[in-house]
Amino acid sequence: MARRIRIPWLIDLVSVSTPDAIRAVTPHPTLDRGLRPAGPLFNRLVARRLRFTLSTGSKPLPTILGRDDADRAAAQAALTERLTPDEPEHLLDEETVAALADFVRGKGGQVGPLTQQLVGRLFDPDYRATVETWAAARQLQRAAESNNPLMHLIRVITGSITRAQRTLTEAANGDPAAVHTTGIAVHNLVDAMEGLGTLYRTADDRTSVSTAEAIARTLVGPRTIVRQADGHADSLVGPLRPGTLVTFAIREAGQRSLDPRVTFMRGSWSECPAHRVVPAMIAAVWSQAVWQ
Ligand code: HEM
Repeated sequence: MARRIRIPWLIDLVSVSTPDAIRAVTPHPTLDRGLRPAGPLFNRLVARRLRFTLSTGSKPLPTILGRDDADRAAAQAALTERLTPDEPEHLLDEETVAALADFVRGKGGQVGPLTQQLVGRLFDPDYRATVETWAAARQLQRAAESNNPLMHLIRVITGSITRAQRTLTEAANGDPAAVHTTGIAVHNLVDAMEGLGTLYRTADDRTSVSTAEAIARTLVGPRTIVRQADGHADSLVGPLRPGTLVTFAIREAGQRSLDPRVTFMRGSWSECPAHRVVPAMIAAVWSQAVWQ
């Protein structure tokens, strides 16, 4: 259910990877996302790296803001409302869906920039993904995922993180939710589009694969999301101390469960505002690839 690595002064890390445990631990009042430098050395380095990286350069991205941040919660609610109409497929840019359907059929196209453009156009109908915006998204993701402090230092000194943030922020008109989407969340959807390509090539009879099945087989969540303890408390996954880092292996948990809610943290205070439109994107690209 949970694995713990604890060496006093050095590291205090809990990894949770089952859907039940993630659901049970998520509401714990001591676990939040503020990511302040607290706890042993490794924990402080991770918190600093994520705060530095998950930013527009001047504003934090929503996924490192705390549960009680009223502006975050209001922006999350507003985005959820906008992205959850009765027919979310009408929010999608037809030209980009068609290009992604060609990619799935094996007719070429760059899946990274195309997917970035599809999600970018949820915020700005004129969003245009380029080689530069896609390279910036890769750079930001690598910086967010790497636990190598030396590599982080090199990225800070060479300015590569700052440049990536600037490129993504300019393209997203400064909106932190759009930077999160086009720089971080997009990678999950790229994996889903690649999954559709594999399904298209390997299905015995692709016309018999319903959109619901295509979604179930390709939708994946983030590899990990992070919580930090802001006090002393007991929990289902063991004792929490100030600065204890708890990671949720959302992708692994999603693959262990038929319940799609874990993939978007549905029902929790941090639920993804795109939980409805993302499946609509996968469905639109699959139907177009197979039927048009
Ligand atoms: C396959 C695609 C996606 C998956 C699996 C996914 C999953 C998630 C998950 C698990 C979280 C919670 C993170 C946490 O608790 O720390 C989250 C948060 C968020 N997601 Fe997504 N996401 C996807 C795509 C998108 C897209 C396309 C958008 C925007 C259009 C988006 C916008 C957001 C925002 C703004 C948050 C932060 C919500 C908050 O706590 O204030 N996501 N997403």
